[in-house]
Amino acid sequence: MTSSPRTAAGRFERLFSPIQVGPMLVQNRICETTNSIGAGRADGLPDDAFIDHHVGKARGGTAWLGGETWLLNSPMPQEAADEFFPGAASTRFPLYLHPDLPNRVRRFTEAAHEAGAVTVFQLTHLNFTMAASSIHVAGAYDWIPHRLDDEEIDFIINTYAEAAARFKEGGADGIEIHCAHETLPQTFLSPATNQRTDRWGGDAQRRTRFVIEVLERVRKRIGDGVALGIRMNGMESRPGGYNVLEMREMVSHIAESGLLDFLDLDVGHSWGVPSYVQPSYNDPAQFRDAARGARVDIAPIPVLFSGRVNDPVVAEDLLAGGFCDLVGMTRAGIADPEFANKARDGRMIEMRRCIGCNRCIGEAVHGRSPARKPACSVNPVAGNEALWATQFQPAAEKRRVVVVGGGAAGLEAARVSAMRGHHVVLLEQRPSLGGQVRIASKAPGRDSFEDFLYFQENQMAALGVEVRLGAPVTADDVLALSPDVVICATGSRPIRPNAPGIGSPHVVQGWDVLEGRAVASGRVAVISQEDHFETPNVADFLASRGCHVEVFHSWLGIGAEIDRYSIGMVMRRLEQGGVKVHTGQILAGIDGNSLSLLSAFTGERRTVDGFDSIVLVYGSAPDTTLHDELRGRVQALYLIGSAWVPRGIHEATEHGMKVALAV
Ligand SMILES: Cc1cc2nc3c(=O)[nH]c(=O)nc-3n(C[C@H](O)[C@H](O)[C@H](O)COP(=O)(O)O)c2cc1C
Ligand code: SF4
Repeated sequence: MTSSPRTAAGRFERLFSPIQVGPMLVQNRICETTNSIGAGRADGLPDDAFIDHHVGKARGGTAWLGGETWLLNSPMPQEAADEFFPGAASTRFPLYLHPDLPNRVRRFTEAAHEAGAVTVFQLTHLNFTMAASSIHVAGAYDWIPHRLDDEEIDFIINTYAEAAARFKEGGADGIEIHCAHETLPQTFLSPATNQRTDRWGGDAQRRTRFVIEVLERVRKRIGDGVALGIRMNGMESRPGGYNVLEMREMVSHIAESGLLDFLDLDVGHSWGVPSYVQPSYNDPAQFRDAARGARVDIAPIPVLFSGRVNDPVVAEDLLAGGFCDLVGMTRAGIADPEFANKARDGRMIEMRRCIGCNRCIGEAVHGRSPARKPACSVNPVAGNEALWATQFQPAAEKRRVVVVGGGAAGLEAARVSAMRGHHVVLLEQRPSLGGQVRIASKAPGRDSFEDFLYFQENQMAALGVEVRLGAPVTADDVLALSPDVVICATGSRPIRPNAPGIGSPHVVQGWDVLEGRAVASGRVAVISQEDHFETPNVADFLASRGCHVEVFHSWLGIGAEIDRYSIGMVMRRLEQGGVKVHTGQILAGIDGNSLSLLSAFTGERRTVDGFDSIVLVYGSAPDTTLHDELRGRVQALYLIGSAWVPRGIHEATEHGMKVALAV
């Protein structure tokens, strides 16, 4: 859990000092770097929902808004349809050509200014369809792009300049050329993806030519009144990629051009390890040294560094240590848009820290809902700002609300009910709050999940929620409290498959292992029909305790539902722990130390011997017992969270909030 010694107001002196970035005065060092989280933009342009989400962070004290990225157009004929490709689009009609763009940019920027922030617009060419060379551009993925010729390169450089001019027209404070995350400019900068022998390829200096020509043309169009910068990867982690020293050399060449007002630096790829949206398994600001490496003496320019900085204490230390001049705290602001004001005002105890679960980026990149909107596990208001603004009202009638179950859903239901003025009693049968979040936090690299519980526990105390722990809750217990409203957040129970031998004492549940209520040792088989983090986290936990772990998964592979920014670290940990994974394996029976398994594809049976322990990770089924007993016996009864349907923390928290807004 993160703890801060600096709770007194005014201790974050560097963080809250202003800085001049080219022509742009930034009120403090806290930045929202660009995050295409899908806030509003129903017609593609900044709208009320976009402003509510992003400017909400400025009202909460963030001084730099990167908003969401702007995809530029590719050199396709006018009559051609847009081309969509896994993970990226090639755009024929980019939104910067929309006649209303400058007006919308102005509305957004004016709202940001009113809240004390500047706006910086990121211009992006993705690389999946076009790049410096026709070779694999995104690490382990099989995407091969078209190699651009001189005419196409010229077209593309122009699109940056045209777009920048449109954003300037709308009053933008800054423009950022996206040269990281395997975007097209990175394919020119990287020796791994730029294999050209013409003027666009060669040594480090020659590989910067594309970026410098973009900056030159953009500067010509926007003049000196708008800040201009690039976003760049501090080091590549792929065979043949550039390291920090080569990055430094390239930054020097680019900075010497005199065209740069800032360098926005992060580390990582859009796949693999590290990813640029580092999950909880990475330490806060783990790649800070790359930022220091980017601080060139030749032409000093302000450096903005991002990478799992979820706490103002870490941010202040980065500034004090000379690693950077500005700090990206993007997910910190999604998790708690007001975190900066809380830090400034000495209200650290009220801060809701980002736990590094990566649901936000997972939803943005892989989300399946047609109504894509921001999703955060700990902040259910993210993406629901309009709903919150209209529906959060002090309760007209103060009611007695009993919440049963202190997991993610129950805690949020209790919190929001209490905020609205209801008298809330929260009953939890376990000795501590947290439910499945607490269980998940026991896995290696997941202790940050406790930060959410720390926040909620503090909220319960601050809001006067009466918390009763440590005793099973019956329907009579609930009725004895004379509730006006009962919210059942009783969670779910781990599933036990129906197979011979399943009741043997050496067969245990993954949750119990994580919680220390069951022990597995020696050679352990993890039998899984679960596609999120639970299976790898249980396997990782066991391996970290010296077990020899083999996972038998029911389908194509483990972690199929894990986002591409987290999965690399998850798999790396398993590989380092010596965990073996077998796919397409269905449990048919257990006989002592032997497992009987069926192939999910052929139905063929096989036996594997020699397991000391067998650990089940089969997901969980809703526990509706209490709800069913209370049906018809209380005035208002709700079933929420995993007790309704087991899903992620985000769904549980959001469900808790929505029900509490209605009671
Ligand atoms: C939902 C989401 C969308 C993102 N989209 C972009 C993007 O469009 N362009 C970009 O440069 N970075 C993008 N990022 C990366 C962030 O700018 C930032 O570098 C990353 O979240 C790490 O910083 P943090 O630890 O402060 O969150 C995105 C991040 C998130 C969480
Ligand atoms: S979804 Fe998870 S990673 Fe994203 S901001 Fe919220 S807590 Fe942080």
